[in-house]
Amino acid sequence: MRIRIFATPAAAARGLAAEVVGAIAANPRLVLGLATGRTPVPFYRQLVARCRAVDLDCSSITTFNLDEFLGIGADDRRSYRVFMERHLFDHVDVSSRRIHFLNGLSRDIEAECRRYERAIRRAGGIDLQILGLGANGHIGFNEPGASLIARTHRVRLRPATRRANAGIFDGRATAVPREALSMGMATILHTRRIVLLATGASKARCVAQAVEGPLTTRVPASLLQLHGNAEIWLDRAAARSLSRLPAAP
Ligand code: GLP
Repeated sequence: MRIRIFATPAAAARGLAAEVVGAIAANPRLVLGLATGRTPVPFYRQLVARCRAVDLDCSSITTFNLDEFLGIGADDRRSYRVFMERHLFDHVDVSSRRIHFLNGLSRDIEAECRRYERAIRRAGGIDLQILGLGANGHIGFNEPGASLIARTHRVRLRPATRRANAGIFDGRATAVPREALSMGMATILHTRRIVLLATGASKARCVAQAVEGPLTTRVPASLLQLHGNAEIWLDRAAARSLSRLPAAP
């Protein structure tokens, strides 16, 4: 995995926004995989600002979000869909029919997961996947465990993950759904390029395990070492447990 280290989270967010704007300018039909969480919020803010500043045409890009809570509808204010609308889609001209989410209210979950995989295939696959990192090493909602599931599937969330997502649920971890739908590890590993963004000291140990540790399903992000075109973008705090530091840009 290639590593880039920025002085601050804001610098990493600016750098990533510039990168994504460049990728859309180079390929107006870019298929973009998107992540939620606190970490990418400054990136989305920068992305919106840059898209506006250069009047970028985003109408032909396609997006796929990584995951969604089970039992939460698309217009529920606590859904990842509403999160994405608030931080990105309300502010840029992505065509609504090109925005893809897993449906947390689907009655036939298996069919919903298959539909998502099919939609990604039909779009030609994901060109650039943005990832966050759970403090326990999860990516998307692929939680650490004895085994991992390859394709889009239903997941049981760990207590730590429910606590980490409590902010969206009025600070109440017990209100966070126990289950979610998530792209699987193979869905993620088959994307053409990955940029994982991790900032803050709370991610440092996990970053080091993912980058320098062995491949293990106990740290799902470590499987990104198998990807030929994966990068991990960090601020100094998130990089501090790495034993080999690349030169700062
Ligand atoms: C959630 C999302 C993940 C994200 C993680 C990290 O669990 N499903 O995709 O990476 O949050 O969140 P944060 O950036 O708030 O630490």
